[in-house]
Amino acid sequence: MQKIDSATGSEIRSHEWDGIQELNTPLPRWWLWTFLVTVVWSVAYWVVMPAWPMIGSYTKGVLNWSQRDNVSAELKLTAQARRPIANRLVAALPADIESDPQMLEFALASGRAVFKDNCAPCHGSGAQGFVGYPNLNDDDWLWGGSLGEIEQTIRYGVRNANDKSRFSEMPAFVKLGTLNRTQVADTVEFVLSLSGQAHSADAAGRGSVLFAEHCASCHGEGGQGDRTQGAPNLTDQIWLHGKSRIALTTVISNARNGSMPAWGERLSAADVRALAVYVHSLGGGEPEPGQ
Ligand code: HEC
Ligand code: HEC
Repeated sequence: MQKIDSATGSEIRSHEWDGIQELNTPLPRWWLWTFLVTVVWSVAYWVVMPAWPMIGSYTKGVLNWSQRDNVSAELKLTAQARRPIANRLVAALPADIESDPQMLEFALASGRAVFKDNCAPCHGSGAQGFVGYPNLNDDDWLWGGSLGEIEQTIRYGVRNANDKSRFSEMPAFVKLGTLNRTQVADTVEFVLSLSGQAHSADAAGRGSVLFAEHCASCHGEGGQGDRTQGAPNLTDQIWLHGKSRIALTTVISNARNGSMPAWGERLSAADVRALAVYVHSLGGGEPEPGQ
């Protein structure tokens, strides 16, 4: 005999424990159907799509769908689409690149992307540089600021094992015993005077004699620098290693001689060219020599 609970209107089940009885409240129909549909859906999904992990592999599903394959197919298509313009960029003369808006846009966009991936760790994401790593936005160049010179620096690098790498070595004057600490202190005062910083005139006077003898061959008589040797201009306000007495003393005593990899060994010719165009565009780019 079915009993009905008067408060809820639900059926009361026939069992009873210590006077406690249970109402019969079945799941709502819509809920049950939704549940059954999801069960059927999941089984169908296992069959069609990649689903179950197995040792060293997984069930591929009848569609054989793969996000990874889709992405690599897309990358291949993009690379194919880029090839003609990338080839054109590699073959172009510097002057042609800047007068061809489509090629210029392509070079700047890919140069910016390759720069973020490869150069930002040392030169900063805005190419602003760090101590020991030159700022590439300014018009102060160690090795030259024309498109061709920048490209050569990037392709072959600086002070590395590549035969064509940019090369020069400032001597470590104290380590080598060429100058003693007092003499270095004098050259430091002279270098401070070159860039108009506070200095002791007496010491700078002695330093200028030492400079002419030991430093001018690379940094120039007046300290204006020499790009054929990557020797920085010491008369401007831009410093690779710092302008303080301590920084100057350390550089002159021990030398730094920073190095950069030869990117032509790692990146495609089109990427190197695009990087050169990008760096050249950052603000300090110079015209080609002879133009
Ligand atoms: C491992 C650190 C490092 C990375 C990475 C690096 N550079 Fe350099 N780069 C240097 C150093 C150090 C110098 C300065 C060398 C010297 O003292 O002459 C330099 C110099 C340069 C110069 C010459 C600047 C001038 O004033 O003449 C250019 C141009 C340049 N880098 C571009 C790049 C580009 C483009 C990339 C990315 C493909 C890159 N660098 C990645 C360390 C790095
Ligand atoms: C053989 C060439 C050579 C000679 C000689 C030489 N230098 Fe240098 N000097 C360089 C180069 C190259 C650099 C940059 C190297 C680097 O990447 O650290 C440099 C860097 C410096 C710097 C750091 C500049 C900055 O922007 O931070 C100072 C200061 C300096 N030299 C002073 C001197 C003084 C003083 C002497 C003489 C006692 C001297 N140099 C002799 C080649 C030379």
